[in-house]
Amino acid sequence: MDKPKAVRPKVVLGVSGGIAAYKACELLRRLTESGHDVRVVPTESALHFVGAATWSALSGHPVSTEVWSDVHEVPHVRIGQGADLVVVAPATADLLAKAAHGLADDLLTNTLLTARCPVVFAPAMHTEMWEHPATRENVATLRRRGAVVIEPAVGRLTGVDTGKGRLPDPAEIFEACRRVLARGAAEPDLTGRHVVVSAGGTREPLDPVRFLGNRSSGKQGYALARTAAARGARVTLIAANTGMPDPAGVDVVQVGTAVQLREAVLKAAPDADAVVMAAAVADFRPAAYASGKIKKKDGQEPDPIVLVRNPDILAEISADRARAGQVVVGFAAETDDVLANGRTKLRRKGCDLLVVNEVGERKTFGAEENEAVVLGADGSETTVPYGPKEALAETVWDLVVRRLG
Ligand code: CTP
Repeated sequence: MDKPKAVRPKVVLGVSGGIAAYKACELLRRLTESGHDVRVVPTESALHFVGAATWSALSGHPVSTEVWSDVHEVPHVRIGQGADLVVVAPATADLLAKAAHGLADDLLTNTLLTARCPVVFAPAMHTEMWEHPATRENVATLRRRGAVVIEPAVGRLTGVDTGKGRLPDPAEIFEACRRVLARGAAEPDLTGRHVVVSAGGTREPLDPVRFLGNRSSGKQGYALARTAAARGARVTLIAANTGMPDPAGVDVVQVGTAVQLREAVLKAAPDADAVVMAAAVADFRPAAYASGKIKKKDGQEPDPIVLVRNPDILAEISADRARAGQVVVGFAAETDDVLANGRTKLRRKGCDLLVVNEVGERKTFGAEENEAVVLGADGSETTVPYGPKEALAETVWDLVVRRLG
């Protein structure tokens, strides 16, 4: 008896007109080599960067940009209808705007309108375009509708510019596609959930020009917020001194001190399904705030700074769950006996999960990448290898989703 042929998932790779179009060749290669049947739909301007012959040769399918080619097959309807996944890489600001507003003036935008499968956008553009309120709103709209918009990477852009807007690594886009395909037509797993994430580091003022602070950049917390939004959650991000642009589709509350952070968390927590405390909270604050700048006095030693304890927010929300079944996650940066200290801290704080990082040179603070072990109150231990902070964030949400049932 003939063996039934394995069904190859049908992927449409949309390519819009940006210099990063050449990197989509690597994504296409990864997709075809792992058994996907890929149809490339470039825009007219994408063909200025990579020609139709390349797409056709790499995908094994004909390539056209317009709805008028092969009209007897009605490709603008068929391609979208038959796809298991549409991924647009690179997605320019113009393409995101068209997708958000339902414009359909070429084969790719027609395909996006007829697709009933999951859609992944991998944006690439100049930082100013990514940060423009019009693009932020378009991204928020697309995410609200269930599309996955991967955050662009930070780094060298076309020419001498550097900043946020680089096409994410093809390997990262490929992983996002695999995850979305594995999920199938099911809704993203955090749809209908409200999650609260704290990020950054608190600053405890000493006088009008000085504070006691820490080196947390907030990048891990922002990665948690972005990935939760991409997985369908309503996200409240409580940001302490991060200085980063608000992630699209996320409610951001800015705070300065530990006391303000506590207030914001307690206000947002009552209807939250999960609270993730990624912020580095100062354990102590100066007992007194000098309303004028503290001056040196000739011939005198400085006055000692007297500190008082700040509230432990994580312990407090873990002890008084605002809602039955709420999942509480903490973070711990440790230098020695990392896992043993982590286990003790998990018990002391009473949270469900504790993400334990080892702090060291190039590790954790300000870095783009991270590695960690996630300890569970149920005794579980999940190792997350060195990689982008997004990958750690995804693992945290996987573990949260499992606990939310
Ligand atoms: N945390 C908090 N409130 C504080 C201090 C910390 O909510 N006042 C939270 C952090 O957001 C983090 C977790 O507790 O999720 C662990 O933070 P860490 O600074 O490692 O813990 P500490 O309690 O400060 O422990 P120690 O200083 O003894 O290492």
